[in-house]
Amino acid sequence: MKYLTLSTLASLLLLSSCTHESVSVQDDSLLALIASTAPSGDYHDYILPDHVDLSAIPADDRNPLNAAKVELGMMLFHETGIGGEAFHTAGLNTYSCASCHVANKGFRPGRAQGIADGGLGFGDDGDGRVLNGGYAENQIDAQGIRPLSVLNSAFVSNTLWNGQFGSGGVNTGLEDVWRQFEETQVNDLGFEAIESQNIEGIKLHRMSIDEELITELGYKELFDLAFADVPVSERYDNLSLSHALSAYIRSLTTSRAGFQQYLRGDEDAMTETEIAGATLFFGKAGCARCHNGPNLGSDGFHALGVNDLWQNSDALFTDADDKKNLGRGGFTGRAEDMFKFRVPQLYNLFGNDHFFHGASHPDIESVVRYFNDAEIDNDRVPSDHVSPFFTPLGLTESEISDLTTFIEKALYDHELDRFVPEELPSGNCFPNADFQSLSDLGCQ
Ligand code: HEC
Ligand code: HEC
Repeated sequence: MKYLTLSTLASLLLLSSCTHESVSVQDDSLLALIASTAPSGDYHDYILPDHVDLSAIPADDRNPLNAAKVELGMMLFHETGIGGEAFHTAGLNTYSCASCHVANKGFRPGRAQGIADGGLGFGDDGDGRVLNGGYAENQIDAQGIRPLSVLNSAFVSNTLWNGQFGSGGVNTGLEDVWRQFEETQVNDLGFEAIESQNIEGIKLHRMSIDEELITELGYKELFDLAFADVPVSERYDNLSLSHALSAYIRSLTTSRAGFQQYLRGDEDAMTETEIAGATLFFGKAGCARCHNGPNLGSDGFHALGVNDLWQNSDALFTDADDKKNLGRGGFTGRAEDMFKFRVPQLYNLFGNDHFFHGASHPDIESVVRYFNDAEIDNDRVPSDHVSPFFTPLGLTESEISDLTTFIEKALYDHELDRFVPEELPSGNCFPNADFQSLSDLGCQ
């Protein structure tokens, strides 16, 4: 159509206002709107690479991606057999990374808080996990903040709600800050955020491996394929474990979501309602002022005045004094960072019941209404800390509904099964293997 004159185009449109041509003109205006919000001014910035297109996925030079490593990481992420550092013997080999990052729940726990060691049961999709009565609350592995999804994390420069991992990005020059805390001294090793975090993550989540264990569990050949470039004497250790997990996490892109297909040129990949919702997201509702990275999150930190996890009646081992409640300020200690949290990614949220860092809102419509009303929930957050963008949006009821549909449906990749192993080399039950989970998961 590029070579038609404008007047021919206009008459064509008049003749065929309900046909394909008119839709594609509308599409172009949405793409132009989307482009106007992208940091580089190009809507292609929002296109996520396919999970197998490893050369297009951001990686750490010291942990190059290869298909064998991603595959190994997928299995280890779900492997209960590496949970050998449990607090009590009852917990040994009963949990995995996927206890708190369940694929069917968009890699979130299926409940407000994730519980790994010290938890019991799975329910349908993690919702049935409870405290193991043999554990005291302060002995469990659970954090005082709602787990982030690991989807699209390859596009996160500094991980966690407070961005504490990684020596680059927003942490550049913060050596004095990260050296104060034991868990962030890992940033001195100079890995990217995901690699740094997972070196600590396997300790925090009570996992470890050695050559004997991985041989017994049936992973030795996979380590040889994945880490052929690493000397044999260093190949079967916890650093390799964390690197394989990091490689897998980098591969978790939601490239098959409708919005992604639409950006790649499939005009039919979004419904009229979803297109209307997208037009609000990138336009009138101003969501892309903050949600403007490839993952529809960003490296910015903002206070929205939502409640914290300790205020949720189900939450364990957290309280009003938990440093996690302070967001970025809990890490940097700077007054201006207090109560500010990283802008999270927005894919595969549908099907969850817990939104915001404190799991304080039950569904996406409620989140949209929160932004539309712009009245804070949490009295502890001083109003002068709250983002200046948090002001009433004046959306109508049908606009609220369209925007909600865009997030629920167009930002949903229906094929996350591709990121879950059919079975593990060890034959172990996953993602959990305590006696209640064995029954819930049909492993008996
Ligand atoms: C007990 C529950 C639990 C387990 C087990 C768990 N996680 Fe998490 N995960 C969390 C929570 C909670 C957060 C957010 C913490 C924060 O921001 O302070 C998180 C955040 C992350 C993030 C950061 C995502 C981002 O965008 O910043 C990554 C990556 C991650 N986890 C990977 C892993 C890996 C790999 C494992 C296994 C070694 C694992 N997790 C096991 C609860 C868990
Ligand atoms: C001022 C920046 C900013 C703007 C504007 C903004 N967001 Fe957010 N959004 C955030 C931050 C920061 C969080 C996490 C806040 C927290 O949990 O403390 C968040 C969280 C969310 C969540 C919850 C995600 C989860 O994992 O729980 C959704 C959904 C969301 N935003 C959608 C929207 C929509 C829709 C709009 C437009 C109406 C919007 N956001 C506008 C910064 C922003």
